[in-house]
Amino acid sequence: MLHITLRQLHIFEAVAHHASHSRAAEQLHLTQPAVSMQIKQLEEAIGLPLFEQLGKKIYLTEAGNEFLHYARNILDQLTEAENVLTEMKGMGRGKLSISVASTASYFATQLLAEFCKRYPKVSVSLNVTNRETLLKQLAQNEMDMVIMGKPPEGLDLQATSFMENPLVIIAAINHPLANTKHIPLSRLQEETFLVREQGSGTRIAMERFFIQQHIKLTTGTEMSTNEAIKQAVQAEMGLGILSLHTVSLELEAKRLVALDVQSFPILRDWYVVHRIGKRLTATAQMFKEFLLNEGAQIAQAKGFNLMNTISKVALQA
Ligand code: PGA
Repeated sequence: MLHITLRQLHIFEAVAHHASHSRAAEQLHLTQPAVSMQIKQLEEAIGLPLFEQLGKKIYLTEAGNEFLHYARNILDQLTEAENVLTEMKGMGRGKLSISVASTASYFATQLLAEFCKRYPKVSVSLNVTNRETLLKQLAQNEMDMVIMGKPPEGLDLQATSFMENPLVIIAAINHPLANTKHIPLSRLQEETFLVREQGSGTRIAMERFFIQQHIKLTTGTEMSTNEAIKQAVQAEMGLGILSLHTVSLELEAKRLVALDVQSFPILRDWYVVHRIGKRLTATAQMFKEFLLNEGAQIAQAKGFNLMNTISKVALQA
């Protein structure tokens, strides 16, 4: 193993480049004796002379020529590493690893697509799962951040809301309540509801809401995806309560209707969440700012309706 320093490589390269100790010293803001001393130590470490003096000029020896090739490679590699790391620090490269609630995946993929268009060199890994798993991932600090409904208090989490998440009641297009206005909550007790699995944020919000309203719902089949609930509602197996973000296409295509029920939609928010004190990478920080500053606006532009569309939906119903 050669005992040489990067500083010696820089000095050697400069002397070889200028074929002069004094001009290398000038370029590196060193004294000429300091340059000569470093070259001498380098030659001692290598065990061969790197330069020879003929008259007033210095020339690289054969070993010097050979070593110059390696020295330049090493210095070039170092410059490249520096550039890559600067870019990573500065933004634009790096990795982003996020997890989103299954309900959030409908708009989150659109937001990611926009983010990747802006920073094409960022590589993204997206995990889609339900609320319970997200909380576990946060506890184990597995992800840069997650997108979910409001996390429980007291969990050492920093959560910032960035977008509304209205929950609506959906029905088949020819359901008897499809055209009824101002349906009282109590009327829902005569219906059967298809519900998301235990651990789903949508399910928890729905249950909490009906307990607060002292309404006892009849729940039918439990289903672990929003898509399954939509299909089952279309097939007239019952009513469903889902985020408006998951049903905008079906409402528009009139494959489902959102019922005009008293106290609906249930208003929730989407949060970007990570552990308190987590050191976000530059890329993660960039994505977080992107979500907070532009997330809602971009989602709306992509057709993920916020409050103004809810009133339209309610009017249609
Ligand atoms: P989900 O949604 O777990 O029902 O998909 C997450 C949330 O609303 O918190």
